[in-house]
Amino acid sequence: MPAPQLTIVADPAALAEAAADAIFEAATSAVAAHGRFTVALAGGSTPRTAYELLASPRRSARMPWARTFVFFGDERGVGPEHPDSNYGMAHAALLAKVPIPAEQVYRVRGEAQDPEEAAREYARTLAEVFGTRRGELPRFDLVLLGVGVDGHTASLFPGSPVLKEVFRTVAAVHATAAEIPQRFTLTLPVLNAAARVVVLATGPEKAKIVRAALADKGTSLPAAMIAPPEGRLTWLLDRAAAALLPPTP
Ligand code: 6PG
Repeated sequence: MPAPQLTIVADPAALAEAAADAIFEAATSAVAAHGRFTVALAGGSTPRTAYELLASPRRSARMPWARTFVFFGDERGVGPEHPDSNYGMAHAALLAKVPIPAEQVYRVRGEAQDPEEAAREYARTLAEVFGTRRGELPRFDLVLLGVGVDGHTASLFPGSPVLKEVFRTVAAVHATAAEIPQRFTLTLPVLNAAARVVVLATGPEKAKIVRAALADKGTSLPAAMIAPPEGRLTWLLDRAAAALLPPTP
């Protein structure tokens, strides 16, 4: 497993630019290679500015929106209008501003009364869009992820039994550590099947977990378990989040 590529930029604004560029580059090369671009967006706050930049006329005009298919790496157990909805954040920052066909944006029904059924429904949608059969994994062109200060990524939290999931592509999880414990997440097999994964982290509060995750051998920290064997992994960091990393040779 090749070591992740480390890209360190000056500050959050530069990270947003670099993340927007990475999405654009992944989109254009995916469409050139196989006619469409499939992406799993990250939630949380870090990616918001990158989404806003991608919605800017200069960038949006060059994106292949008609051939872009958007999923979410994870979702909270809330509806799309809720301020904590990952879909809601991406919709406000990006999806409502660009000409992506609405039927090509797939959100988890976080508001569902039956989370297990909502997770199964999302897994069925993944299989339909990717044309995968039982036991096959969807291979995203790009998966964007963040990392929490406890080392979680998507909604894969330390110690969660879902970290051992090898078959299901989507899981409903109860994350006691999270503000909204009801969560939905793509599982590690899906995240690690991706052609490209970019993990985003900014700020001094992430420096310790970034160092720990990059030093971890994928044994305990979920973010360290992101290791796509047939994909390209990049940790995109600003200087503050990279501050505790050993100097690169
Ligand atoms: C979520 C996210 C989660 C996020 C990290 C980092 O639903 O919370 O998917 O995995 O990426 O918690 O969040 P920040 O970007 O807000 O630091």
